[in-house]
Amino acid sequence: RRPAELAPAIDVSGLVDSEGGLVDRAVFTDQQIYRQELRRVFAPSWLFLAHADQFHKPGDFFTTYMGEDPVIVTLDRNRRVRAYLNSCRHRGARVCRADYGATRNFTCTYHGWSYDLEGKLVSVPNKAGYPESFDTGEWGLVEVPHVDSYRGLIFGTWNPDPVPLRESLGDMAWYMDAMLDHDDQGTVVVGGVHKWVLEGNWKLAAEQFATDWYHVNMSHASALMVLSPTGKGPKDEIVHRTGRQYAGPNGHGAGFPVHPKNRFDAGTVHQWTDYAALRERLGDARVEGPLTNGHATVFPNFSYLPVNGSIRIWHPKGPDRMEVWAWTIVDKSMPPEVREAQRLYNLRTFGPSGIFEQDDGENWSEVQAVSHGFVTNSVPLNYQMGLGSERDDGRHPGTTSELYSDAAGRAFYARWRELMTTPAWHEEDDK
Ligand code: FES
Ligand code: FE
Repeated sequence: RRPAELAPAIDVSGLVDSEGGLVDRAVFTDQQIYRQELRRVFAPSWLFLAHADQFHKPGDFFTTYMGEDPVIVTLDRNRRVRAYLNSCRHRGARVCRADYGATRNFTCTYHGWSYDLEGKLVSVPNKAGYPESFDTGEWGLVEVPHVDSYRGLIFGTWNPDPVPLRESLGDMAWYMDAMLDHDDQGTVVVGGVHKWVLEGNWKLAAEQFATDWYHVNMSHASALMVLSPTGKGPKDEIVHRTGRQYAGPNGHGAGFPVHPKNRFDAGTVHQWTDYAALRERLGDARVEGPLTNGHATVFPNFSYLPVNGSIRIWHPKGPDRMEVWAWTIVDKSMPPEVREAQRLYNLRTFGPSGIFEQDDGENWSEVQAVSHGFVTNSVPLNYQMGLGSERDDGRHPGTTSELYSDAAGRAFYARWRELMTTPAWHEEDDK
């Protein structure tokens, strides 16, 4: 059934000029635009749910969000990954309040309706009080219609008729494999899921991970000095770094320096890594590019950092706030001490108090805090770097431009505008 539409859609096409590289700040601040994002950007898109390593036996579950919709991800009795709206069909309370765990049933703590791993309503206290016509078969959990995974990353979509996940990733999969496909064993999760709240619109983070290497030299200058072996900071070498930036037609983006000697961190992970084997498996272009240093976003709100094994989702929490959920993933083939080194490296740099993460969060909150004024909102923002430089470079799939470019940002907002101006499946009755 079609969700109720409380407000007619507003035409946002004038707010984003992706060809000219201009974005109006209302896309970050307006409540009505935000509500429209939930139904036109999040509801129809493939959204990241969890890593496959979080589920090993029937009943293992993890609770998360798709947009602002709470969902439970679990393995049913046939070990199939399924996802349900985490909201009781009786009066709407969550049927699972734990972050993760293992169970046989999801029992609502309000009046006690209970659902099995297949989402069926299997127990109703005082059922005799309901009329003959009450059919428990009609009151199961609402199921996410499509759940699929790509190399251990589980995605779901509310779209009843989606483009298949692999197809929607397109060339982005080639870049993702630089993190996910180091050998046949794939990746596993180390540690728990870090969660923190940032004042800032979710797109500020998502677009930055898609497109913005430009901030690194300025925003992260002090952090880079800390990591520099000489203590002076590698500023010059970084400022003049060359690299490429992928801008996908579905709004995905990835940027990475290109260098024949790109390496993981200088310690344990680097020593353990067999770069020759990786060249054999992934090819020189990937090992010298997206394997290590880089950042990426799978549209709309899943991002990752290959060198850290950091994967994260920017959960929208209103126009002004996001909740960051971050995992560290490692190669399953890594021995314990290498896994631990990678976990600590990620924590120090991109954990919630990591030296780089703090810089980024500060920027997003700064932009958000000053973006509400009437005049402020009439001044468009600049996304023109690298305008016209997009091309097929013959070495990296799809359209790429320079490392310092807004190309993937323009692609991100072009996709956003396309979805925001297209009625989703649940609006089709309106046409
Ligand atoms: Fe869940 Fe009443 S709200 S049993
Ligand atoms: Fe950053």
